[in-house]
Amino acid sequence: MRTLAMCVLLGSAIVAGQHFQEGDGKKRNPAIGNIVAIAAGEKAFNEGCAVCHGQNGQGGRGPNLAHGRVMWHTLSDEATYKRIKEGVPSGGMPPTPGSEEKLWQLTAYVVALRAPAAESPQTGDAAVGETLFWGKAGCNECHSIRGKGGSIGPDLSDAGGSRSTTVIRMAIEDPGANGSKGFEKARVVLKNGTALEGVLKNRNNYSLQLLDGRGELHLLLMTAVREFTVAKQSAMPPNYKARFSAAEINGLVAYLAKQTARPLQAAN
Ligand code: HEC
Ligand code: HEC
Repeated sequence: MRTLAMCVLLGSAIVAGQHFQEGDGKKRNPAIGNIVAIAAGEKAFNEGCAVCHGQNGQGGRGPNLAHGRVMWHTLSDEATYKRIKEGVPSGGMPPTPGSEEKLWQLTAYVVALRAPAAESPQTGDAAVGETLFWGKAGCNECHSIRGKGGSIGPDLSDAGGSRSTTVIRMAIEDPGANGSKGFEKARVVLKNGTALEGVLKNRNNYSLQLLDGRGELHLLLMTAVREFTVAKQSAMPPNYKARFSAAEINGLVAYLAKQTARPLQAAN
């Protein structure tokens, strides 16, 4: 019985994973995965990027981009392109000039590499970030780390092991910019007039599940629902960048980068 239950659980996890990829799966730029484009991107990378990211993207002043590990929380192709084109001024990465073709070649090269934040150099002070996370930034109201904290947002126990530095920084500075993946903010008004707000957990033609700010899960039948809207913006507060200094944000990024749930694999 127990084994069977495990299989069922695993089965649904796999289905959820596939669904996630399909939902994300816009048509990719032809440079992505194209060997000729990747080689051209590598050449441009060695000329303009290696000074900070290392000759093979293994890291230096800029983060390690060079482990071929497939990550769940990776930047989308478009977000990677945008990062390269516009840079990350707050994080010390300059914008890159050049044609769209050259920028996509660089993107194709970088997509072929990837590294989690835990293996990348951090400029911030993790202790500063830790104090903010559990204190005045209130991140713990929505996120938990190793069983402590809230559940509106994703668990961050493995933030640094499964997300790159930029994904973490982007999530804080520009929430939702990389997609809200299973944590869409929704508002429901029931036929009896009750209004509910929270994060949408599951939805089909007959019912939906909404996790509210107190961590309560509501299973609602569509027949009882009068209005249902999914917000475009993230459920996460949009103003951290204005509220905190660059050093404080860097501290938060460094603190989350340290969170790993599993031992790091040896570099290959
Ligand atoms: C002056 C140093 C510097 C140069 C030159 C530089 N970078 Fe960066 N890059 C950084 C830093 C620092 C970050 C981390 C920014 C942050 O904290 O989010 C970064 C972040 C990135 C990221 C996001 C990594 C992630 O987390 O997925 C990509 C992609 C990237 N750089 C690609 C490039 C490419 C391609 C070039 C060359 C066209 C380049 N960089 C040139 C310093 C640099
Ligand atoms: C009001 C609730 C709320 C608060 C407060 C909040 N978050 Fe979030 N956060 C969310 C939700 C919901 C998501 C997932 C949806 C999204 O990214 O739009 C999220 C996503 C994230 C992610 C991306 C995780 C992933 O899956 O890649 C990171 C990192 C993160 N938050 C860090 C923080 C930090 C650091 C703070 C405090 C400075 C914070 N959050 C405060 C609700 C919150």
